Amino acid sequence: MCGIVGYVGYRDVVSVILNGLTNLEYRGYDSAGMALQDCGELRIYKTLGKLINLKNELEAKKYELKHPSSGIGHIRWATHGSPSLVNAHPHTCTCGRLVVVHNGIIENYKELREELIKKGCKFKSQTDTETIAHLVADEYANSKDLEIAVRNSVKKLQGAYAICVMHKDTPDLIVGARKHAPMVIGLGEGENFIASDIPAIIEYTKKTIYLEDNEIAVVTKDKVKITDINGKELVKKTEILPWEPVALSKLGYKHFMLKEIHEQPDVIRNVLNGKLYDIDEPVILNEVKLDKEILKNLNKIQIIACGTSLHAALAGKYLIEDLAGISVEVEASSEYIYRRTTTDSSTLVIGVSQSGETADTITAIKQAKEKKAHVLIITNRPDSNMARLADSLIPVNAGIEVSVAATKSYSAQLISFYLLAIYLAEIKETVDKQSLKNLKHELIQIPSKIEEILSDLKPIQNCARKFSSYKNFIYISRGINLSTAYEGALKLKEISYINATGYPAGELKHGPIAMLDETMPVLAVLIPGGITYEKILSNCEEAKARNAKLIALTSSNDDNLKNIFDVVIKIPKVNEILSPALTCVPLQLLAYYIAEFLGKDVDQPRNLAKSVTVE
Ligand code: AGP
Repeated sequence: MCGIVGYVGYRDVVSVILNGLTNLEYRGYDSAGMALQDCGELRIYKTLGKLINLKNELEAKKYELKHPSSGIGHIRWATHGSPSLVNAHPHTCTCGRLVVVHNGIIENYKELREELIKKGCKFKSQTDTETIAHLVADEYANSKDLEIAVRNSVKKLQGAYAICVMHKDTPDLIVGARKHAPMVIGLGEGENFIASDIPAIIEYTKKTIYLEDNEIAVVTKDKVKITDINGKELVKKTEILPWEPVALSKLGYKHFMLKEIHEQPDVIRNVLNGKLYDIDEPVILNEVKLDKEILKNLNKIQIIACGTSLHAALAGKYLIEDLAGISVEVEASSEYIYRRTTTDSSTLVIGVSQSGETADTITAIKQAKEKKAHVLIITNRPDSNMARLADSLIPVNAGIEVSVAATKSYSAQLISFYLLAIYLAEIKETVDKQSLKNLKHELIQIPSKIEEILSDLKPIQNCARKFSSYKNFIYISRGINLSTAYEGALKLKEISYINATGYPAGELKHGPIAMLDETMPVLAVLIPGGITYEKILSNCEEAKARNAKLIALTSSNDDNLKNIFDVVIKIPKVNEILSPALTCVPLQLLAYYIAEFLGKDVDQPRNLAKSVTVE
C-alpha cells in the first residue's frame, strides 16, 4: 500500500526519487520521506501529508545538500501507528546510521521489539517498520556486511515486506528484500533502481528484474546482485516493460480518473482484439488452459475479488449462468478466506483484480490452489503476484490505472467476462449460434456506444450539479445491472465521501424504503427490453410515493419517464445483457463530477490506496 523508490547513479537523486514517488502516490499518501547518501553524510527528510510537502521541504533545504549519489524514498499508507512525522519512513536504528523503508506488515514485530529493547535499542515510533531498522543494525554490528545483516534479519520476520536498507558506512549501496509484497529492480547504464512498482521507474528504464519472495538484491550503480535466502547467487531473467511513460500523464485532462474514463472505448477494443475478430467464428481464449472436455463438463465456478473487481465478478456470474448455464458463486475474498468453502479439484476458481496484489485475494487464491482447484486470474497486471499464482491468466490490458477509483480496469474486466461467458457457451453449446452471433455483433459496438455517451457530458454534469448537495443516495437495479448499482454507489462513496448504497430494487420495500423522503435521492438503472424494466419502474413509483427524488439511467425513449423521474440520463439503445458495459460509464462520470463540484481530491481520495496489500 505504500510506495518505495531507491536509486543509485549519476542523475539528480532527489528528482529521480521524487518523480518515482509521484508516480506511486496513488498507493498511499499519509506521509512521505527520503534518505540520501550525500558525500559521507546520511540525510533524512520526512513530511506529513502528501508528497508535495516533501517536495517543498527538500526545495527549502536544498542548501544542505552537497551531491547526493544514492537514496531511498517512501510514501506511506498508515497501518501500524497513525499518520505522523515520527511514524513516517525512513526509519532509523538507535545510532541513526542505518535507514529502512518498508511496504507491508510485520506480524511478529511486538516480540522482536521487546527483544531489541532488552538489547538496548531505543524506539521512537509506533511502527512495525522501525523494528526492521533495529534488527538489521543489530545483525550488522556482528557481520559488518549489510547484505548478510539483511539476510539474517529477514529470516526472523513474519508477515509481508518489501524493504530497502542503506547504511552510512556503505555509501551507494542499497539492499532490498521482499516477501508477499512486490519489488522490482530497474536496470540502467551506470545507474540502477529499486522500487515497489514499475510506474516509479518507467521514465528511466524499461529493463527490469522482478524480485521473488525470499530474494535479496544488492544494488549499486554498476551492478545488481540477487541471491536467495541462503546467499546463493541467482541468474534472473531481465524483462522489458510493455508500457510507455505517457501512460502516467494526464494528457490535458484535469484528473487521471477523467482521462481513464475516456480511455474506455480503446481499452475495450484492446480487450476484444484477437479474441473476437469475426462474429461468425468462436471466441478465442487460448489463455484458458483447461481442456475443452473438462470445460464441457464444468459445473461449478467460484469467483473471488474485492471492491470494484467484486462488482465485475457479480456481472460475470449473471453472464456465465445465463449464457453457459454453469453455477457461479461470487464472494468477497476477505470472506472466502475465513470459512470452510466447497472448493475442490473440480472447481474453476476465478480471481479478479486490477492490481493483482490485493492481499485478501492472494490469500484466497492460495487457499483455492491448496484445494487443487484450477485458478484463472483476470488482472490488469500480468506482472503481479496474483498472475504468478495463476494456472490460467487473462490479462485485461487496460494500461496503467493511476486514479485510485477504478474505472477502465472495471470495463476491461467486464468485457473479459463477456468473452469468457461466450467462450464457455460456445464450448457447452448452451445458446444457439444465431443468438451468440447477435451478441458478439453488439459486443463489438460497445466502444462506439461509449464514445456516444462521452461526446455529450452535459446531462451528467447537470445532474451532478443538481444533486451534489445531497448527503445520502440509494442506487437500485435488478438483474445484471445490480452490479452496476453497486459499482456506481461505490464510485460515489469513494471520491465524494457521500453515503451511497447499492441495493436490489425489489428489496427496497423490505426495509430501506423506511429511510426514503425528499432528502434521499434514488438512482435507478433500468434497461427496456429485458425482464426487469417494468419491475424496477414499479419500485421507483414506490419510492416516488415517499417523496424521494428520482434519477433514471436508461436507454428507454419513453417520454413518460419524465413524469416519474426528476432527471433522466439517456444511454444508447443496448441489449440488457450487454448494458452493464454502458451503464457503468455515466455512473463513473456522475461520481466524478459530484466530487469535482465538491472540490474533492478525485484521484487520491482520503484513507484509500490503489492496491491494498494488507489483509
Ligand atoms: C476501486 O475503485 C477501489 N479503489 C477498490 O475497491 C478496489 O477495487 C479493490 O481494492 C480491489 O482492488 P484490486 O482490483 O486491485 O484487487
